Amino acid sequence: MSWLVKTLSTSVGKKLVMAVTGLFFCCFLVVHLLGNLTLYKGMETFNGYVDHLHALGPLIRVAEVLMLVFALVHVTTGLMLTYQNYMSRPVKYQMNKSGGGRTLGSATMPYTGIVLIFFVIAHLLGFHFADHETQTVYDIVSHAFSDPVVVGYYVVAMLVVAVHVSHGFWSAFQSLGVNHEKYNPAIKALALVFSLVVGAGFGLIPVYMSLFI
Ligand code: HEM
Repeated sequence: MSWLVKTLSTSVGKKLVMAVTGLFFCCFLVVHLLGNLTLYKGMETFNGYVDHLHALGPLIRVAEVLMLVFALVHVTTGLMLTYQNYMSRPVKYQMNKSGGGRTLGSATMPYTGIVLIFFVIAHLLGFHFADHETQTVYDIVSHAFSDPVVVGYYVVAMLVVAVHVSHGFWSAFQSLGVNHEKYNPAIKALALVFSLVVGAGFGLIPVYMSLFI
């Protein structure tokens, strides 16, 4: 156990924690996006998908608790790294170097991260903790996206998600030691494609629903 505490007290250990929890959230985004794509198929298909999810019962509860724990660990560790980075110039230099130079994503990581905390809280309050007794989840989503302000807010939030993920995805591989001259361009390209797919995939849903539903 002491090796764990020791590892987590170092910068490298914290970066590892960020990588593992961050990649977990990347997987969540893929699954969540695939589920949300059923919105294009209309009310029956989407509500059928949601019913299917809810039917998993305790499994979903376990996944939710795991996500909450990972989110708390990811945010706390990210804040600690940001503070350490701010307080110590050499560490800052080291982190930027390992991140493959300064990009929009790397330079704004703490800010996009903080915006995402507020986005996720508002998103959960609006969709997950909304009244599920008197309306279906499809009703909740389509009603939300009938408001142009909410649509605009979601599109901007999805841009922020894309920028955060574009650096996080790349950086996670660096932290896990997948860092080789030969593979780095491919990992960079994959990070860019992944962030574009996630940003556009989520961002187009509110636009489509506001225009065609
Ligand atoms: C257009 C974009 C999105 C739509 C339409 C959408 C839709 C939804 C809906 C309907 C739920 C509630 C499901 C239920 O209670 O049965 C939900 C839950 C959730 N969403 Fe999203 N979502 C979007 C984007 C995102 C993004 C970008 C993130 C993360 C950054 C995210 C994170 C979550 C989380 C953590 C939950 C709770 C999952 C659970 O415990 O069941 N969502 N979303």
